[in-house]
Amino acid sequence: MKETVLNLLPEIKEIKDANLMNQVIACWEEAIAFRGWTEKLLLSIPFTLLAEGVHISFIDHVRAVCRMCIATDKVLDEVHGSKKTPINRDFLIAGALLADVGKLLEFEIVDGAPVKSDYGKHIRHPFSGVGLAFKHGLASEVMHIIATHSKEGAGETRSPESIIFHHCDFIDFELVK
Ligand SMILES: [Fe+2]
Repeated sequence: MKETVLNLLPEIKEIKDANLMNQVIACWEEAIAFRGWTEKLLLSIPFTLLAEGVHISFIDHVRAVCRMCIATDKVLDEVHGSKKTPINRDFLIAGALLADVGKLLEFEIVDGAPVKSDYGKHIRHPFSGVGLAFKHGLASEVMHIIATHSKEGAGETRSPESIIFHHCDFIDFELVK
């Protein structure tokens, strides 16, 4: 199962803290096991059901946004140097990789295809994502990114890491919806 997670999301290896990396993997393993997702099925989940004709997959969305977050942090480092708002890059990457892990609970498999479940209508992925992260001992800074990344975080004061993730996430979403 760990191999499947690393194959799907090689960006996990960008996390420097080994304990944090293992916690992220554990969340994905549990989310995959919850509905019995296979690697092939996971790759067939669309990025969004909110728009027609979107060919970008859910996994590629997670990967693209994670890499955009890393790139943003690097640019800010290079240009602003010591004047930059401090960012914990490990927390940023972990949060980016876990923000949407709850979608594996939100979707279910019907006749071999991923569809939105009743469960997902009751518990959107920021909530199930925080639940998984709490269970696996993730830092509150990482749970904050998951909790505040989408509309549920509107009105909250987002951390610097959550601000970066939120905007990168919406760049990818706005461009394809
Ligand atoms: Fe999301």
